[in-house]
Amino acid sequence: MTAPLRIGLIGAGAIGAWHARIVAERRDAVLAAVCDSDAGRASVLASRYGAKPFVDAVDLFADAAPDGVIIASPERVHGEHARLAAEAGVPMLIEKPVAPDPAGVEAIRAVTEAAGVAVMAGHVERFEIGSAALKAAVAQGVCGRVVTVAARRQFVAADTPRFRGLSTTLRILGVHDFDLVSWVHPVPVVEVYAASGRGRVYEETGLDDHVVTTLRFADGAVGLVESAWTLPQPYGVFTSPEGWSPAGNNRLDVFGATGMISNDMSLRGQQLIAFDEAAGFRAAGIRHQPILHGRVTGALAEEDSAFIAMIADGTPPVVGLDDALRAVRLTEAAEASLASGRPVRLD
Ligand SMILES: NC(=O)c1ccc[n+]([C@@H]2O[C@H](COP(=O)([O-])OP(=O)(O)OC[C@H]3O[C@@H](n4cnc5c(N)ncnc54)[C@H](O)[C@@H]3O)[C@@H](O)[C@H]2O)c1
Repeated sequence: MTAPLRIGLIGAGAIGAWHARIVAERRDAVLAAVCDSDAGRASVLASRYGAKPFVDAVDLFADAAPDGVIIASPERVHGEHARLAAEAGVPMLIEKPVAPDPAGVEAIRAVTEAAGVAVMAGHVERFEIGSAALKAAVAQGVCGRVVTVAARRQFVAADTPRFRGLSTTLRILGVHDFDLVSWVHPVPVVEVYAASGRGRVYEETGLDDHVVTTLRFADGAVGLVESAWTLPQPYGVFTSPEGWSPAGNNRLDVFGATGMISNDMSLRGQQLIAFDEAAGFRAAGIRHQPILHGRVTGALAEEDSAFIAMIADGTPPVVGLDDALRAVRLTEAAEASLASGRPVRLD
């Protein structure tokens, strides 16, 4: 048996903690190091899994010499962390969005290509079974010529204040679906038009409450991406049952000349719900990080498996920087449209 891969993590926040647990639960990898600019967060997460804590990523690469690194810091510092990984010759998984803008993705591509270091983009929806099965069915021509691709992603705005001034609704939520829609219908987008509804979330955090983006594809098809925090709080804020993550109101529909394909993950299609007198109605999100027999499974664990395979076997990344760039370009165009109130043409 070969020695377990030593994985480093940069960013011990919400998603970093999930990656840490997933890596620690694997047999072929260990969590060797955790870096966070917040020393307390780094040491709490590192000590949970027997990893070494760092507050500076420079020291993580110098002292821990990981075989791979998961970059789950905020996107504004992904470029700096990717550069350090490239200089250390360490393959990396970079959370979405890979960078705040296309120039940032290009810069990451330049340093990693120059160093010959493999990069995977953390677009977790690619590992969601329904999304992947829908993509395969569209590619088989099941709905004929594609006319419309519609994606909705709606959550409770429970944890959004941490993004104030640091990110946007389209970078947090929209980028998932810009990638998904372009993956399902891989035709260039020629026009992007976005409009937002602003309410309580905007007042409290500066994030748009609900953004509706339309995409016009070069072949005449249309895309619709909804990115929203407008679910009522009780739907997604609960502490019982223990271990349940809240569900969103998500769906992905493709309508074509001769048929339709729909992956319904929406309010009325939730698979697992609880309803009791003490806490009312709750729905469990069981797509991305469900716990099965005490271990994290689901799309995020599959994403980390693909990353481990990329390091161990040289398997090409399932999601690469071209995909990341396409999604970030669409995000930037939608943000430009929001700012101007006009459609944005793309070359
Ligand atoms: N795939 C998904 O579904 C998903 C879900 C959540 C977040 N994300 C992405 O992951 C990234 C992190 O998001 P989050 O929600 O975990 O944020 P978070 O704020 O919860 O965590 C970010 C962590 O990074 C640390 N940090 C900030 N600057 C740093 C630096 N220079 N060096 C080291 N650590 C630093 C912060 O102290 C914090 O602990 C974002 O790019 C976000 O878009 C992806």
